[in-house]
Amino acid sequence: MSDTSNVKYKKYVLDDKLQYFKPHATKIENSFADEIYSSLNRDEKFISPKFFYDIKGSALFEKICLLPEYYPTRTEVSILKQLQSDLSSYLDDSFRLVELGSGASTKTRLILDVFEKFQRIEYFPIDISEILTESSEILLSEYDNLHITGIIDTYEGGLEFLKNYDTKKNLIIFLGSSFGNFSPKDGATFLKKINSTMKPGDLFLIGLDLVKDTTILESAYNDSAGVTAQFNLNVLSRINDELDADFDLSNFAHHSVYNEESQRIEMYLKSLVPQTAVISKSGVTIPLRKDELIHTEYSHKFQLSHLTLLFEDAGFKVNNTWCDENDHFSLTLLSKK
Ligand code: AVI
Repeated sequence: MSDTSNVKYKKYVLDDKLQYFKPHATKIENSFADEIYSSLNRDEKFISPKFFYDIKGSALFEKICLLPEYYPTRTEVSILKQLQSDLSSYLDDSFRLVELGSGASTKTRLILDVFEKFQRIEYFPIDISEILTESSEILLSEYDNLHITGIIDTYEGGLEFLKNYDTKKNLIIFLGSSFGNFSPKDGATFLKKINSTMKPGDLFLIGLDLVKDTTILESAYNDSAGVTAQFNLNVLSRINDELDADFDLSNFAHHSVYNEESQRIEMYLKSLVPQTAVISKSGVTIPLRKDELIHTEYSHKFQLSHLTLLFEDAGFKVNNTWCDENDHFSLTLLSKK
């Protein structure tokens, strides 16, 4: 790895099978305070969904994945189980597995199982959350031939890290329809970024949630146990804890609707009363009107018939697409054109 890519990161070697890289702490903290300053100190307020995933937020997301209303996880798992043998035919022992947004690495096992026939498995999880270190320890106890290099950073940071790392072939996976959390413009830029990180021969497997009945979509993001509401509100607790802020969570409500025209779930935090919140580390006081919305997430849903164009525009060739029997979710295997 070149020296320039290394300076940004501190390397932690835990043993001969586990190491991880993390950007120097002040870098993360400053950008959190700065981003919150500029996204809340304006008329159309928003908080980037990447900030959902502190330890508590990541655990709440894992809980969401098990909810009866949240169909994406179990549907994607069922497709992953079906595509294992097809995927195997694209891989040999010159590949490593790289995962964007690995979280608790639950679905990763279904891909690691495909790699298990190789003498040595290299897995590079990239995640903004430190949950990565916990999930890595568990994976190592399950796979004897596994070696993990974790990168605790944003997707973009992780991809840049990977680009400069070495010449080994990568199977990059981006599951769970996390791609749907980008705006269409940022999504297109991100696909191009992945494409430019890839070497000829590298592969990219992406899971996308598809357009379907509004009732199914809205109940997935308004679950009856209120876990999605807790997940949404937790971002304010995180700002309180890490940026010395004083948001009163009881003055906010979770609000989530499907926008049919834009084909996306839109998630907000609604201010229930007129209020102000001080965010000390961002050096700002935020006034909020009653019923004012803070936008926290878009979750775009995709049309199967539009996917080829989306991927080709970013410089990809489609190798294969797998769906469930209801066409609720898709997984597509791509390579560089
Ligand atoms: C991570 N991401 C794909 C989830 C989604 O469905 O957009 C996050 C989520 N938000 C609310 N529920 C789940």
